[in-house]
Amino acid sequence: MARIIAGIGASHTPTIGFAKDTKTEDDAAWADVFRVFRPVQAWLEQQRPEVLFVIYNDHITSFFFDHYSPFVLGVDNRYVTADEGGGPREYPAVAGHPGLARHIGTSLFADEFDISFFQKKPIDHGLFSPLSMMTDRGKAWNGAVIPLQVGVLQFPIPTARRCYRLGQALRRAIESYPEDLSVAVVATGGLSHQVHGERCGFNNTEWDMQFLDLLQNDPDALTGITHAEYAERGGMESSEIIVWLIMRGALPPRINCVHRDYCLPSMTAIATVIYENPTPPEDSEAERQRRRMGLQLSGIEKIQGTHPFTLEVSHRTFRLNDFLHRLVEPAHRDRFLHDTGNLYEEFGLTAEERRLIDDRDWIGLIRYGVIFFCLEKMAAVIGCSNPELYAQMRGETLEEFQKTRNVSMQYSVAGGDAARKLAKKGETDAS
Ligand code: FE2
Repeated sequence: MARIIAGIGASHTPTIGFAKDTKTEDDAAWADVFRVFRPVQAWLEQQRPEVLFVIYNDHITSFFFDHYSPFVLGVDNRYVTADEGGGPREYPAVAGHPGLARHIGTSLFADEFDISFFQKKPIDHGLFSPLSMMTDRGKAWNGAVIPLQVGVLQFPIPTARRCYRLGQALRRAIESYPEDLSVAVVATGGLSHQVHGERCGFNNTEWDMQFLDLLQNDPDALTGITHAEYAERGGMESSEIIVWLIMRGALPPRINCVHRDYCLPSMTAIATVIYENPTPPEDSEAERQRRRMGLQLSGIEKIQGTHPFTLEVSHRTFRLNDFLHRLVEPAHRDRFLHDTGNLYEEFGLTAEERRLIDDRDWIGLIRYGVIFFCLEKMAAVIGCSNPELYAQMRGETLEEFQKTRNVSMQYSVAGGDAARKLAKKGETDAS
């Protein structure tokens, strides 16, 4: 069974990554930054958790306002550093743990935390700056990472209490994973700081100390504080500190604080803490949680001709679904129609994937794991109607299929000229 061996708090700032990449530990101006992270690195070298579950917030790098979510869980098998404006840092990709990530996602939904999921997105300094400082790749910890991105930059954002409760659900999720794994839950985010407006440069060490005391000994007291109060005490951008409550919620009330350090070199107060978890998971609770998780899809495998689109399928078939989804872009669909071979090559489609598309093998594509709603886009591009697609999936001719409907009609998701062309074709077929 998976076990949470500790919670780690580690501030993230671009300076931390910058220090790691360009400075040395004996550079006086940067010595404090290295100092606060050294014990965390030593602890990880000694304990070597197999998975780091890292809660961080993106800084409008990979998560923009066209779709902004409060809690977004990474379910990928690898993660790379993001380009935040001046090119990505030269830090190697880290492995994910899709199996545990999917289990956590399912468990959180069972507990009515309806989070969202991401794949194929680079990750910014919110995760990689502390990670690069905490781990020395290749010689020490070299395990997997599961990222949880928390959207804290466009209000409304989750309350401190919601974060704490999510942490409690996260504990049930991790501790019900059947495989033996040691996990450390890491929260990142600066302590007091403000980087925008006339108040930029604001810090409050007294509040930072109080926050760290309460986080360790009385986290419940932090859950009733409003976003405005966090901003007043610690500066506007320090509101990201509420994600530390997710880490604390994932631990029992009594923990052993084995490390705590703090420094304030420039704009952002940087802290690191390690809370070891003395309480092992309970088998009966884990079993109860797994039953709860299995409830919603229990028996679905008995429904004939039905292919649920799960996170597992989505991850396995991402490349092909992505290829077909991009048919909503005019340039891509033009190349799909007129430069097919080169486009297949660029997307790295396998021989089987190319055959499924070339043969318009709709049911084959469904069985392979393509979602229907990408198929109807492809159908619209090639001038095929939805009923033709349905008929093929059922192993019927169009005529046979239309006889099973109350009204015989032809349609698709195509718009404009493509829709008019299909309508004309339907009239011809009917006459
Ligand atoms: Fe931040």
